[in-house]
Amino acid sequence: MDMLNRPRRLRGSATIRNMARETRMDKSSLIYPVFVREGVGIREEIMSMEGQFRYSVDMLPYALEEIARSGVGSVMLFGIPDEKDECGSGAFLEDGIIQKALRRAKQECPELCYITDVCMCEYTSHGHCGILDGEKVDNDKTLPYLAKIALSHAQAGADMVAPSDMMDGRVRAIRETLDTNGYMDLPVMAYSAKYASSFYGPFREAAGSAPSFGDRKSYQMDYHNRKEAMKEILADVSEGADIVMVKPALAYLDIVREAADMVNIPVAAYSVSGEYAMIKAAAKMGYIGEEAMICETAACIYRAGANILLTYYAKELAKFMDEGRIG
Ligand code: PBG
Repeated sequence: MDMLNRPRRLRGSATIRNMARETRMDKSSLIYPVFVREGVGIREEIMSMEGQFRYSVDMLPYALEEIARSGVGSVMLFGIPDEKDECGSGAFLEDGIIQKALRRAKQECPELCYITDVCMCEYTSHGHCGILDGEKVDNDKTLPYLAKIALSHAQAGADMVAPSDMMDGRVRAIRETLDTNGYMDLPVMAYSAKYASSFYGPFREAAGSAPSFGDRKSYQMDYHNRKEAMKEILADVSEGADIVMVKPALAYLDIVREAADMVNIPVAAYSVSGEYAMIKAAAKMGYIGEEAMICETAACIYRAGANILLTYYAKELAKFMDEGRIG
């Protein structure tokens, strides 16, 4: 046999395979999304996301302690208010749901990094991510609101803010407002390449944030586009983003790879609610193995170039990393 290269040599045993692994993961790079709602004593399961819950502020510390114990480093907080209005004012109230959750979380479980989703769709009566002008979201009228929301999160103790609205210029607006108020060291993780995606369906049920008319295509990206994602990412970098994000993750790994090759800051990927729900549902039917699927999908997202992974499977992944199944 005239064959110098035998790739199978490095696959002969688990020890060699693990040594030669190209992708290394660390559970400190996992971010777990958590939903917080008004009320007392509430821990309710989200119908379309089995195993995920909405917590009232008093129940939140139990969930956070479990997350911290698993070794996951960060959480992304989403607020579900009781009251909504035209301009989403619940998003920047001192006693808003996120602000209350942050104060409690920082007090009870200070070891986690608290990132907040900066957006209006959960708080507006129309469910769109900004201020309406007729049926259109007015970009420039929305910017001061986003800046105000980010500032109020910072004041309530957020460790990082993550704008997910997809307005043009919002990273700059937020950065300037944070800086002029003394939060120049607070990082911004921008949902830079956020596509208008049907993978967000379960989230909208979880957060009650589906738009009451139309869709989000005039502000979130068209999934046919790749170069446009790089334009969005470069714009956010130039506006002062500290981390850029690609969302969703699984069907968008080409975007993750290109972003990772292009920028000199960390790239996060958000494995969204629909990705979680698909795995859950298929596993429940017995069509696939859930644990194997969790491991494979996560490793592939990191292999594509993600440095940080937002996932509803963060706790499971931390466990599998501990066990040496992946990473
Ligand atoms: C907007 C926001 C959404 C998600 C994160 N932030 C929903 C949307 O844009 O409609 C989706 C996350 C997921 O599906 O897991 N606030």
